[in-house]
Amino acid sequence: MKRRNFLKNATLTTAGLAVGSTLASCAESDSKEKKVITTPQASLPLVIATWNVPNATAKAWEILNNGGSVLDALEQGCMVEEADIKNQSVGKGGRPDRDGNVTLDACIMNKDGNCGSVVYMKNITHAITVARKVMEDTPHVMLAGKGAEDYAVSIGMKRENLLTEASKKEWKEWLVEKEYKPIINIENHDTIGMLAIDKNGDISGACTTSGLAYKMGGRVGDSPIIGSGLFVDNQIGAAVATGMGEEVVKTVGSFLVVELMRKGKSPQEACEEAIKRIVNKPNSDYKNFQVGYIAVNKQGETGAYSIHEWFSMTKFQDGKNENIQSDFFNKTV
Ligand code: GLY
Repeated sequence: MKRRNFLKNATLTTAGLAVGSTLASCAESDSKEKKVITTPQASLPLVIATWNVPNATAKAWEILNNGGSVLDALEQGCMVEEADIKNQSVGKGGRPDRDGNVTLDACIMNKDGNCGSVVYMKNITHAITVARKVMEDTPHVMLAGKGAEDYAVSIGMKRENLLTEASKKEWKEWLVEKEYKPIINIENHDTIGMLAIDKNGDISGACTTSGLAYKMGGRVGDSPIIGSGLFVDNQIGAAVATGMGEEVVKTVGSFLVVELMRKGKSPQEACEEAIKRIVNKPNSDYKNFQVGYIAVNKQGETGAYSIHEWFSMTKFQDGKNENIQSDFFNKTV
């Protein structure tokens, strides 16, 4: 019997049961004995992120391991990618829309179910910081466009040109083709979504993106939409999405993953079911787009799954990074 099943099926008396600080356990009473359902101990803190982003996860884990807050960890982890102009799907250096404008979406959600997001924001590199401030310092959950940008400036953030020469050159080359076909996941990275469990076992999450390359002006994807791009339920777990945001929005993907975990699925099973919801829709065009999910549950188990290959999850635990290639649905093409 696999260790997880063994532990899940174990029936023990509560007396003498050692519960580690990182162990989630739950006791159910019946008339004769206490049945304790327990799960493997996860070493905390734990950080996972979409794609191969070792610098981002290392930054977040270091903050958590030094006793910092989970929101500081997530924000600063995401900021690593937002500032990296070589990452052309997040923050400064992100690929623009079809008109040459770089527009950013981001959101953050904490253990209490509070959240903040920014959509279609220009000229501010650290969208995740603005999303956090929306959550913490405003009565709202979402600011859009010029309002988000003006708010960012009002809290001391500086306007910058986010369109780098490299992204501008690629955009101009794309324009020459004169074919309107937004591109997603043409490289081995996209939206960075990050989930973390702190030393107390509390879960929070964040994600940040420049969205679909060469999208229509005004387009917003899944990443700033709570429940689609990200969802956290500190009792159950959390999930975050990457890939074709339209498809994630249509299935309220991250909320779905968390709800599936609530019903008893493991993070891996929940990610797989959420991907199958997309590919099994009538007339699904799934061969032509990518979606990936990562998830973590309250016990620190993790999962990742995508439609196509070329999706991975970075996991930072026990002081070390691991890039884990995701299993995927479309193995036959
Ligand atoms: N998942 C990023 C986007 O669709 O904008």
